[in-house]
Amino acid sequence: GLVDKAGHRHYMAKEIHEQPEVIAHTLAHYLDPDARTVRLNEPRLAKALAEAMRLTISACGTAYYAGLVGKYWFEQLARLPVEIDVASELRYRQPVYPENGVALYISQSGETADTLAALRDAKAHGQVTIAIVNVPESTIAREADIALPTFAGPEIGVASTKAFTCQLSALAPLAIAAARARGHMDLATENKLCSALLGAPRHIVEFLKQESRIEHLGGEVAKARDVLYLGRGVNYPLALEGALKLKEISYIHAEGYAAGEMKHGPIALIDEKVPVIVIAPHDALYEKTVSNMQEVMARGGKVILISDKAGIAAAGAQVWQTVEVPEADPFISPLLYAVPVQTLAYYAAVAKGTDVDQPRNLAKSVTVE
Ligand code: G6P
Repeated sequence: GLVDKAGHRHYMAKEIHEQPEVIAHTLAHYLDPDARTVRLNEPRLAKALAEAMRLTISACGTAYYAGLVGKYWFEQLARLPVEIDVASELRYRQPVYPENGVALYISQSGETADTLAALRDAKAHGQVTIAIVNVPESTIAREADIALPTFAGPEIGVASTKAFTCQLSALAPLAIAAARARGHMDLATENKLCSALLGAPRHIVEFLKQESRIEHLGGEVAKARDVLYLGRGVNYPLALEGALKLKEISYIHAEGYAAGEMKHGPIALIDEKVPVIVIAPHDALYEKTVSNMQEVMARGGKVILISDKAGIAAAGAQVWQTVEVPEADPFISPLLYAVPVQTLAYYAAVAKGTDVDQPRNLAKSVTVE
């Protein structure tokens, strides 16, 4: 075919490995590498973001989780209130759109029926619509007021990987642009955040060198019937995405939870048979997440901690397994931590012998309701 597996066993493996390149490509479109600034200078966009009373974000599946990461970035950096929901809910909710509202839709294919319907609803209610889309000639890209491309290239594996990290690579510059437009970002901060983003591909290359270790851990995860993923703050959506990836391709039941919410339910499930995957870079929320992790271990739960060197060192010896991600600015952790959860799900599926690229009952693009 037009796209081959380039020596990989599955398209999904190929697409995981393409991430450093396609992230760099996407970032190159939105960032000036010398000035270390965002080059989203379309006046219409800056004006809409500056005047927005609220940003509505919607999408489906993995693209929705990219949007959820975006919510943290838009609120923290741009002080822009965000409403976010899956498109299949938002479109029927009769959402209250503000005057001067901006609405953002995220889609790999640009053809997802619910996402398109949600976009049309927002347009009909006077919102300025922005779409982050991987297929530039798609319906969603054409119908949005402003289309922002991602450069993931064709994604063949049904489980989205490189499209997700490219969506994050467009969302982060957009959040910085919003912060600037709204007067919440000085040049030094913009330079620091852009530098951090530009370093992401290099960190992912570094991470992928330990693939044999992830392969081994994937084999361990494959023995489980249920797996719980925990994360906090901007990494909470990564827990959701990790659980989604695992259930999509390995058919293991998995749930993603906000770490602090675990004691309101999932803690009842914890025993030595349920691996708990904790996503916790050594950032401002690390201590909080680690105390949730200790609650899991106190109940016999087997923890796989995904963190950086400092985070792993501080976690103690009780942790069952660790996965080390290169140290980086916490701003880019969603980009980096996406890769271990993808590879872990991939190798769990390989160990189970499932059809990784064409999992049962799933479609690459859901163009009907
Ligand atoms: C399907 C795919 C997912 C994808 C979702 C949204 O469920 O299997 O991988 O995240 O649709 O698709 P979109 O093309 O709108 O990003």
